[in-house]
Amino acid sequence: AVERTLSIIKPDAVAKNVIGKIYQRFEDAGLKIIAARMMHLSRAEAEGFYAVHRERPFFKDLVDFMISGPVMVQVLEGEGAILKNRDLMGATDPKKAAPGTIRADFADSIDANAVHGSDAAETAAVEIAYYFPALNVYSR
Ligand code: CMP
Repeated sequence: AVERTLSIIKPDAVAKNVIGKIYQRFEDAGLKIIAARMMHLSRAEAEGFYAVHRERPFFKDLVDFMISGPVMVQVLEGEGAILKNRDLMGATDPKKAAPGTIRADFADSIDANAVHGSDAAETAAVEIAYYFPALNVYSR
């Protein structure tokens, strides 16, 4: 089925100037960018986005990292977009990410891991709504 997923290019990858290289991977995999915005998240925005992780030991470091610089946020649309994007990203820990994945090629650590992608249809819907009102999503 055609799905939508929320993707974030994190501060490490924006700082490395590889937004275009990462977009190329999305496009080459048949994923369409149907909404996008660059943002420098506030602490409250980052904490709200990652609220499901609030009790995890890595929460503070995760939020500190996500507000350390601008991020690029986009909605990707395509056949099986959620799993397709996760395959493109590779494992959360770049040390475990398969060769040729975004995290293997661009990420430095489990926090500075270049990209975020929704993990399921329900979370994708919530995450997309968090950053994009429906009228700013341009599906054709
Ligand atoms: P992301 O897909 O953005 O979702 C939560 C983030 O927490 C994850 O990517 C990692 O960057 C970060 N993180 C840090 N430590 C861990 C951990 N032990 N397990 C999962 N995620 C972690």
